[in-house]
Amino acid sequence: MLRTHTCGELSEKEIGTPVALCGWVYARRDHGKVVFIDLRDATGITQVIFDPLSPEVHKIGEELRSEYVVRIEGIVERRPQGTENSKIPTGMIEVRTKNLEILNKSLTPPFEIIDDLQVTEEAKLRYRYLDLRRPAMQKNLRLRHRVCKIARDFFDERKFIEVETPILTKSTPEGARDYLVPSRLNRGMFYALPQSPQLFKQLLMVAGCDRYFQIAKCFRDEDLRADRQPEFTQIDMEMSFIQEEDIFELSESLMKKIFKETLGIDLPTPFPRLKHSEAMARFGCDKPDARFGLELAEITDIVKNSGFKIFKEALKEKGRALALNAKGCGSYSRGQIDELIEFVKGYGASGLANLKVEGGCLKSQIDKFFSEQELSAIKKALVAEEGDMIFIVADKSERIAFDSMAALRKSLGRRLNLIDDRNFLFLWLTDFPLLKYNEEEKRWESEHHPFTSVHPEDIKLLENARSLDKIRARSYDLVINGVEIGSGSIRIHRSDIQKLIFKTIGITDDEAGLRFGFLLEAFKYGAPPHGGIAFGLDRLLTLLVGCDSIRDIIAFPKTQRAYCPLTNAPSHVDEKQLDELGIRVKK
Ligand code: AMO
Repeated sequence: MLRTHTCGELSEKEIGTPVALCGWVYARRDHGKVVFIDLRDATGITQVIFDPLSPEVHKIGEELRSEYVVRIEGIVERRPQGTENSKIPTGMIEVRTKNLEILNKSLTPPFEIIDDLQVTEEAKLRYRYLDLRRPAMQKNLRLRHRVCKIARDFFDERKFIEVETPILTKSTPEGARDYLVPSRLNRGMFYALPQSPQLFKQLLMVAGCDRYFQIAKCFRDEDLRADRQPEFTQIDMEMSFIQEEDIFELSESLMKKIFKETLGIDLPTPFPRLKHSEAMARFGCDKPDARFGLELAEITDIVKNSGFKIFKEALKEKGRALALNAKGCGSYSRGQIDELIEFVKGYGASGLANLKVEGGCLKSQIDKFFSEQELSAIKKALVAEEGDMIFIVADKSERIAFDSMAALRKSLGRRLNLIDDRNFLFLWLTDFPLLKYNEEEKRWESEHHPFTSVHPEDIKLLENARSLDKIRARSYDLVINGVEIGSGSIRIHRSDIQKLIFKTIGITDDEAGLRFGFLLEAFKYGAPPHGGIAFGLDRLLTLLVGCDSIRDIIAFPKTQRAYCPLTNAPSHVDEKQLDELGIRVKK
């Protein structure tokens, strides 16, 4: 037997017991006569002592270097008084070594295997197998496993079955670019890697599966951010004969179980719900962090006819003027304000107006452009008091006004220390618009995906192609602390309505037939009403761990440039492989 125990489990109970341990040399301390090492494996660390009374063991002990793999045999002893370490579970004991064997040597690692590691992301990913040896990373991998296990057990108990859907498939339109895979047997043709199992899970409902789930890999070729990876994992589910309330109840129970069993947190349910229009008005975005105030107020009507040319110009047509009250920030310096101006410029805004409350009035370099009534209406709308500072973005693009103010709100929330990081605030976002207008392509497109049902009260608008921006969808997002964790909808299950949606978003009958003919056909064979949701497992874990990057909870992630420094993927391939596929690379 190579080992009797792991490095994380010995305690005072085993004092006097002979043990065999295997692991990596974590830290080595040479006190002249006595050599100590911290022996590490996946479960923890045990202090091991090499006794000068065993000269042979002591000699090998002197040879040991970081990350050597060793096996020791010895006796568990109580640590001398004053040398205990209450921070680790094995901190009361040490193992006095009788035999020491080096199982494998190691080159000096390119970085220390410690949790507080200060090296570039590229270096960590290049040596990911060393990076993953760090206790924090081991913990993350194990947490990931636990969450998957909790989810599987949860769905199993509720009579869901896990079904694997294809990876080599046809494009599913989720709004990102597809990763394409050429087919050797069907030259010139391509599979697409799934952006989600959306169409297959709907087909499983037509197939009478009733309740499906899958911990599913999804692939999206999109620009990467801190919370996005080109391949990521969804906890994906779908149910037949259900309505929104069924999804809400199920999702809340799942989240409750995950948070209780991993962090010991009792989440209050039901989660609060917020309509999309209200979220936009109050927070400027559809995934608000509602843990703090600084809510927005629209002041378009107050300032659109003011003497301030910049505002007047911006608000001539569809522009919006949004403001927030930075409580107590009236004393902000020029430098601090300039920093915020630069910040909103990063979101496309041309500037950030500011007005502070001083002596009961709004004061600023631009106050002279506004009438008394306008100034007092702004002050009233923002409920501004002495010492407050009002920030305003007016922009002819509604999107820029919302994006920049939502980002400013978030940033001020951090600066002003208004966010309690230990608090998890769940929100359901509902009543999303079904469609949004794509200005560049001059056409309507789905806000979520084209398989989302229409709010029953708005179906007439769709049929008559009227007020398309007012049509509400039966979709919902689950948001935690400003992060979109899940998204889903009640689906369309009738081919006539599905066709109408395709037509509205400019997909012709022929094109719909080519791309989704199989789905439209399936709907003709008794498709049940159905709906579902998918949770982003990686984002959920990032929140549970409290880490900054989604990469910290994925074993082998890609960089911001969708590159893997460990394997060098993507890479060039042989001419021969390309020939077989009938592909030539454009220079
Ligand atoms: P959606 O596209 O909103 O919906 O995705 C569901 C959830 O997956 C997570 N997510 C991502 N996580 C990491 N990296 C990415 N690139 C990434 N993209 C999305 C988010 C998101 O909320 N088929 C629908 C679900 C449904 O309607 O049932 C879908 O995929 O947390």
